[in-house]
Parts: sequence; C-alpha cells; structure tokens
Amino acid sequence: MSEQKLSGEVFYPSKEVIEKANAKCRHLYESAEKDFLGFWETEANELHWFKKWDNVLDDSKKPLYKWFTKGMTNIAYNCLDVHLNNARRNKLAFIWEGERGEFRSYSYFALHRETNKFANVLRSLGVKKGDRVTIYMGRVPELAIAMLACARIGAIHSVVYGGFSVEALHERLEDSQSKVLIVADGAYQRGKIVELKKIADEALQRAATVESVLVVKRTGHEIVMQPGRDMWYHELMHLPIAHSDDSVEKMDAEDPLFLLYTSGTTGKPKAIMHTHGGYMVGTYTTLKYVFDIHEQDRYWCAADPGWITGHSYIVYGPLLNGATSFMYEGAPTHPYPNRWWQMIEKYGINILYTAPTAIRGLMKFGEAWPNRHNLSSLRLLGSVGEPINPEAWRWYHKVIGNEKCPIMDTWWQTETGSFMITPLPCTPLKPGSGTKPFPGIKADVVNEEGKSVKPNEEGYLVIKTPWPSMLRTIWNDPERYVKQYWNRFPGMYMTGDSAKKDEDGYFWIIGRVDDVIKVSGYRLGTAEIESALVSHPSVAEAAAIGLPHEIKGNAIYAYVILRTGYEKSEKLIEELRLHVGHEVGPIAKPEKIEIVESLPKTRSGKIMRRVLKAKALGQDPGNLSTLEE
Ligand code: WTA
Repeated sequence: MSEQKLSGEVFYPSKEVIEKANAKCRHLYESAEKDFLGFWETEANELHWFKKWDNVLDDSKKPLYKWFTKGMTNIAYNCLDVHLNNARRNKLAFIWEGERGEFRSYSYFALHRETNKFANVLRSLGVKKGDRVTIYMGRVPELAIAMLACARIGAIHSVVYGGFSVEALHERLEDSQSKVLIVADGAYQRGKIVELKKIADEALQRAATVESVLVVKRTGHEIVMQPGRDMWYHELMHLPIAHSDDSVEKMDAEDPLFLLYTSGTTGKPKAIMHTHGGYMVGTYTTLKYVFDIHEQDRYWCAADPGWITGHSYIVYGPLLNGATSFMYEGAPTHPYPNRWWQMIEKYGINILYTAPTAIRGLMKFGEAWPNRHNLSSLRLLGSVGEPINPEAWRWYHKVIGNEKCPIMDTWWQTETGSFMITPLPCTPLKPGSGTKPFPGIKADVVNEEGKSVKPNEEGYLVIKTPWPSMLRTIWNDPERYVKQYWNRFPGMYMTGDSAKKDEDGYFWIIGRVDDVIKVSGYRLGTAEIESALVSHPSVAEAAAIGLPHEIKGNAIYAYVILRTGYEKSEKLIEELRLHVGHEVGPIAKPEKIEIVESLPKTRSGKIMRRVLKAKALGQDPGNLSTLEE
C-alpha cells in the first residue's frame, strides 16, 4: 500500500511495523472484498465451537440478521478454557494496578478458576441461562470475572458504568429486570471514594426484580448490608458451593451475551443487545489485526469496562486472543500527571489504546512529564470515542510514540460491537482520519436520498452490509431497532454520525447528527440530562446542548425555565448541577446552566436545540421557518 500517492499530511508506517503485522494488508482487504462471508468464516474457524454453523449469515429476515446460525459456542469458554491446555495456561491474562498503587495479576489458569467459582456462586443463587445480571463497579478485575461468569452460565450481563448515579442505575435495573446486582462497596477515583453501594441502595429501593446483591470489597469503608439480600463476594467465593461444578453452558451463536445501555436519538437510554457468536468473531478478529496482538505483547486499553470499549477491548477481545492485558483503576493524572507514563515504563506496555480527551488532558501538562520516562516499549497507539484533532494526534505520535508508533484511530459504536473504520498497522495514516473500513465492512457517506456523495462532501455515515458483531436488537423495543437504524435509508445501517470521504477514500468523522453528546468520549443523550433537570421541583422545562470544549471535546450547556415561585440565583444553579450529578452521574453535570424565559420550539412543540447551539456559538441559526415564534 505504501507505494500509493496520497493527498495531505500522510504518515507511512515503517518497514518493521509492516513486516511484523498479523495483517497482511493487501491480501486481507482483497480476500474480504471478494468474499466477505468467507473472510468472517475463516476467522470464526479459529475459535472453538461445540457445533459448527449451518449458515454464516442468514439474511432472510432483513434487517433481523443472524450469524453462524445453529452454531453452538460460548464466548467465555473461548476466552479462558481454550487456553488451559497450551502454553498460555500460565501466561498473565490481566495485570492490574489500583489507584493507590496495589498490584494484582491473574494467569489464564487463575482467571479461569475465579470465573468458574463465581459462575457456581451465581448458579447457587438460582441464576439461569437468559437471566439478567447487573454489574456496577469501578475498574477492578472482579468486574471482568463477573462478566465472564455470567457468560459462562448463559446469563445476560448488563454492566452499568461506575460513574453513573442513582437514577441511571435504577432505570437500567428496571428495564433489564435484573435478578442479581453485583456491586463494589466503593471505587477509588482521584483519591476519593465513590460510594457505589450507597448509590445502589438508593436505586434498589425501587427495583423490584433484584433478589440478591453481591458486594465486592474494594474500599472497605463502612456500608449497610441488608440481611437476606446482600452478601459479600469474598465470603461466597470461599463456600464449598463455589467449587461444585466445572461445566459451561453451550450457547446458540445467536443467544444474548450482554445488554449495554447507551444514549440514542430521543428518550431513555436503550439496551443494545449482543450475542455469543457474532460478537465473539468480531472482537477477536478486529483486535488481532488492528492492535496486532502478539504472544509476548502487553496491551493496555485504558477505557472503562462499563462502556463498549471496555467490553470489547479490555475483556473479550484480549482474552479471545490470549493476550496479556493491563488494567488500571484510577485517573490518569493521579497523584501526578506522569501516572500513565510511569506504568507504561514499569510494565513494559507495547500497545496503548485511549481516547482523544485523555490525550488532550495529558498534553496540557507538557512534554516534561512523559519525557521523564522510558516509553520505548510502545509499538502501537490507539484512539477512540470522538474525532481526534490533528494537534493531539501529532503530540501523541511524537511525544508518546517517538514517531515510530502508528496510531490506530478506530471508529465504531456500542451498536457495532467492534471496529468498523480503522487503519491496520500497515495503513498510511492521516491525522484525524480513521482511514478505511475494516476488511469485510462496507461503509459509505450518503446524502438525504441515500446516494453516495462526492469526495469531500459531508453526508450521513452508513454501513451497507451486515457484519458479525452488529447489535441484534434493542432489548424490550425491537421496533425501535428497525426504526432507528434501518428505516432512514432502506437496506443501510444508519450510524447517526456525519462524515466525509476524501479523494483517497479516507473517512473523516465529523460528529453526531442526533441528540447524542460526546463528553470526554462518554456518550450521553440530551434527553437524559433534560429529564434529570425537570425532575427537580424548581424546573418547568429544560434543554441541553453540547458545545465545543478544549479537553472534553464537548461540554454540556443547559437552558432551564423555572416554575413560578422560584427565583433565579447562583445557589439554585449550583443545586441543579448537583442534582444532575446525583441523578445521572458526575459526567453529566452541565458545564453551565442558564435560566431563561422561553426556549425556541417548533410549532409542534419540539425544542430546536440547533438554534440554541447556533446562538451560543454566535452563528447563524439557519432555516427558522419551523420556529414557533
Ligand atoms: C463517536 C464508542 C470519531 C461517534 C466506541 C460514534 C468516534 C460514537 C470515534 C459511538 C472515532 C467513536 N472518531 N468519532 N475514532 N469512535 N466515535 O457507542 O460519534 O460510546 O457514533 O462507542 O462515538 O459512541 P459509543
């Protein structure tokens, strides 16, 4: 590929990187182009199946696609058991460092043993195949163990990000009808304790389906245990019952593996559903080729397991590849801005995968912090969550990667399960572009009529053919699945992003075209923030928008109309900010709240957020013909 002449600022990968890469680029793209089902089938054949599939893809009921039909497998078996009879048995699966400097590691043998014990604990509490289990913890190994244990017995996990708060957790417990909640007593974040169990207790007051609460002791601070409902994880793991069984549930490829709630166009967060078979093939294949996992590598995805990046690329993808994964509990700058760089040096990390917001946040402390450390173990870098601005890209490339590490800017979504538009290590890079669709993926940029736009013209980013790790449905709302993703352009998956494709066929993501706001790479919906505001007694109406922010990418601005009898004051504004933090979570706290007399609305009563945004940015609000007044 390197002989190709490309326009703009281009970084060509070195010969060493290309030669070492798992992905033989040209061959991979060409073979997938010729026969994309054959491409995925070859990959699926590298994994373990109790019974092979009849069909790679069943598209008879579009868009309700099925993959590897009638195939029987279990993703947790492929993550752990398959490694026990080879050299990986004693290889480290996880290396973990706590924010306060504690260290733990798990070999594949140990991780399998712990997972199996916890699977037995869950079984003994009556958790069966298809039951939902909610997990609410910080970044600790028990989180991965809990996910894998659920998968092992066929239960469906629903991980709720530890940065979410009471209402967000309550909504998710209720919607998934979870039988069990696995929670930590607390989590360390920037030297403070986030009181997860206390938040959970409040959320549980109105969650009728939860029968048992299993509590992982992380902080050891005082919490309330409700007799009959709450049990300590470490006590259960010591019971003989934990050693009773070694079996794995044989799952149909299309059986649900997990639900993950994410924000969408309007209304409440929705549960995206992924399966054992297709999701497994997608995460395994993409990680192997993009982050080029080799046996001796130490790989670090610095995301949170509570989001899709953590599901796919901290837990499932790395374990499927038999990788050694590093996991760090805390904040990048705690206690000092060199915390990450220190750990890269200490553990000899080869691959670092993070988000632009983290890079920008670290960049602001200057080069001196990373320059104090030996980062020469790094071979590949990665970025995800929002477009990376070229300045951050260049800093990451030069200061962290010493100009020798290609940056894998991976575009994908909770819904896609795995990378969709991404370079491979052999791809020439342009800062700010995710380059090209992964082999087997067909992406395009289209106009209002669904026709491909010309190079460098902005349009809707769509995916034109199905892929194994695609979401199968929205839990409890199958109609919304079809409506939201497949109806806008028949036959095409609508991503909700706008993008451009340049003359070299490189994709440039511009941003969301719906009411999703990406704050520090975290996905939030305007509706969640607005309903949290309106739940406060003083608020009659609210509108939230995202405005550009130097570090966070976007920051939330909210406009609020007060109920009669309430007076505008700084104290009330601060109270409203804290209220959103309490309801949704600290990440959702608006940067600024403005109290207004009215909001721009269409004649049918919908708030015109784009008008608010244009006004805040001092821009022309565009077509106002539908504005009420
Ligand atoms: C955005 C995160 C530009 C995009 C994996 C997408 C990106 C949304 C990139 C999904 C990237 C993700 N460049 N934008 N490399 N990666 N996005 O579901 O708007 O939390 O639709 O999944 O993040 O967010 P989600």
